[in-house]
Amino acid sequence: MKHILSVNQFKKNDLKNILECASIMEKQCKSGKIKKLLENKIVACIFFEPSTRTRLSFETAALKLGAQVISAENAAYNSSAYKGESIEDTTKMICSYADVVVMRHSKEGAVNQAGSVAKKPIINAGDGGNEHPTQAVLDLYTIKKHLGHLDNLNIAFGFDPKHSRTIRSLALLLTHFKNNHFTFVCPKALNPTLDFLEDMKNRGASFEITDNLSKFKEYDIFYANRLQGERFKSKKEFEKYRKALVITKVLAQGSKTLILDPLPRIDEIEQAVDDLPNAAYFDQAQNGLYVRMALLLYAMETL
Ligand code: NCD
Repeated sequence: MKHILSVNQFKKNDLKNILECASIMEKQCKSGKIKKLLENKIVACIFFEPSTRTRLSFETAALKLGAQVISAENAAYNSSAYKGESIEDTTKMICSYADVVVMRHSKEGAVNQAGSVAKKPIINAGDGGNEHPTQAVLDLYTIKKHLGHLDNLNIAFGFDPKHSRTIRSLALLLTHFKNNHFTFVCPKALNPTLDFLEDMKNRGASFEITDNLSKFKEYDIFYANRLQGERFKSKKEFEKYRKALVITKVLAQGSKTLILDPLPRIDEIEQAVDDLPNAAYFDQAQNGLYVRMALLLYAMETL
């Protein structure tokens, strides 16, 4: 049984196999000939926090592979968690119905707690401001698809590294590869947390922090993510910074910088940027389907 709880669990070889499998899944989806490798399996999607892409791409991935899906899309209210049931008890019950459980929670560490009692594989679909490992793998897939390599990258992340689990997970995952340089672009109040920077240092990562976009055109990749309003202490603080840094068409046109964003996009990228050839965020979201097919197979040890 293989839980997927954190990017730290992946070895380089796991990533290689998952990315290769995702590429096969992409080809099968495009040809319409998909092997039903999860026939007779039940995939549970239990989301205690809102989601569009993650839940729907996991559900689509499961259905394409021939599995059936049970789902609680607003589990904080529509499951017994609302009555006070512990995450452990809820997890034990779901595991008695389903073969694999995809779970998102607003509390850091809650999905790990679920994993500690689960008799079926648990997949972390985001736990608070901590991690979003399946997003990081689909981000890798997208980078490989567009640039052809995962090392020697000059990659920038904006604009809320303090709260963004997608930035945290992708940056950590990219430290597996050689010679990557990381820049965190954000207002000073949203600098990455010290524990995260310590982690990056311990991995030997080369990084810097800046509060401006003056080097935008020098980056191979700019990974934007909205300010995570729900994780700010006050709405006032969120409003203060929400439009402080924005990727505009004027800034991005004429550059080769690959622009990624896990979405939803709020203010961080001007809509006019969508038409530029280097804007890859909708393709990135679509890749989520192929990568989540591969990740379901990995968790079910069918890879
Ligand atoms: C991300 C998340 O949930 O962290 N969304 C997603 O899964 N694509 C990014 C976000 O909500 O900002």
